[in-house]
Amino acid sequence: MIVKETHRAEILDGRAAAAEIKSEVAVEVTVLKSEYGVTPRLAAVLVGDDAASAVYVRNKIRACEEVGIASDQLLLTATTTTDELLSVVVALNQNDEVDGILVQLPLPKQIDDSVIIEAIDPAKDVDAFHPTNAGLLAMGRPRFVPCTPAGIIELLNRNKIEIAAANACVVGRSQIVGRPIASLLLQRNATVTICHSQTRHLPHVTRQADILIAAIGRPAFIRGDFIKPGATVIDVGVNKVTDIDRARNYFAHEAERRIQAIEKRGYTLVGDVHPADADRIAGKRTPVPGGVGLLTVAMLMKNTLQAAKWRRGL
Ligand code: GUN
Repeated sequence: MIVKETHRAEILDGRAAAAEIKSEVAVEVTVLKSEYGVTPRLAAVLVGDDAASAVYVRNKIRACEEVGIASDQLLLTATTTTDELLSVVVALNQNDEVDGILVQLPLPKQIDDSVIIEAIDPAKDVDAFHPTNAGLLAMGRPRFVPCTPAGIIELLNRNKIEIAAANACVVGRSQIVGRPIASLLLQRNATVTICHSQTRHLPHVTRQADILIAAIGRPAFIRGDFIKPGATVIDVGVNKVTDIDRARNYFAHEAERRIQAIEKRGYTLVGDVHPADADRIAGKRTPVPGGVGLLTVAMLMKNTLQAAKWRRGL
């Protein structure tokens, strides 16, 4: 009997890269403490009771503990007004002990996001959402770089995936991921295409990409016919799957484990890329969970360390 070996994409392990980055940060934090008596400090602000946001903030605080960064968690109620949150941000700006300020998004709908983001001192803006930091990045003179895009670059570099001269395609044009990752890839001499909801013949466009970045927030949207055979596919999406038939379709060899997760806690996670399709067609792909999300947290640690150094002229 001839058994045909089926191709399966190599998994780009976010956990390993994140662990490396965090241990590099931990070493630098130790040096900063012993040589300058400085402990970097992050203030994380969580407004309301969005369950996913609470998990993300908890993971960020835990990462601070792992690398020796001090942290404060500020919890505000879901009815907080723009003015109330603004005064919290102003106090954190003025507090010289605080190096990094993170306001977890999304904010409750009564709060004007841009008023809050623009109030954060750009020197403490470890998420790099302030227009000053976004503008410097767009000009090719990055200061702080948003954590998820910075993490994607680290993952590509640490896995020796060539960016220069590659065709890179970014699906999604958000302020947090799509636009900044496109800037970073361009700066590294990729030929960059940005796609969005009005792009014509999307699969034809994405199929030109050696590096395909999916950041649209739609479960398993990127199918096999969107992917160039052998491409590197980076999946930024985090979507809940509660339907067992859907999980069976998405996960192929992993289906049983995913279905057990749904039966146990009600859901499993899928990205914006159809994982079984990507396994068949891509050369390399990031998993969800265990991919880009872990890098986001690691890069927040790196940015907080950077803020602590820059604020002191180090
Ligand atoms: N919401 C989704 N991603 C992020 C992030 O990187 N930082 C913050 N503050 N909120 C987010």
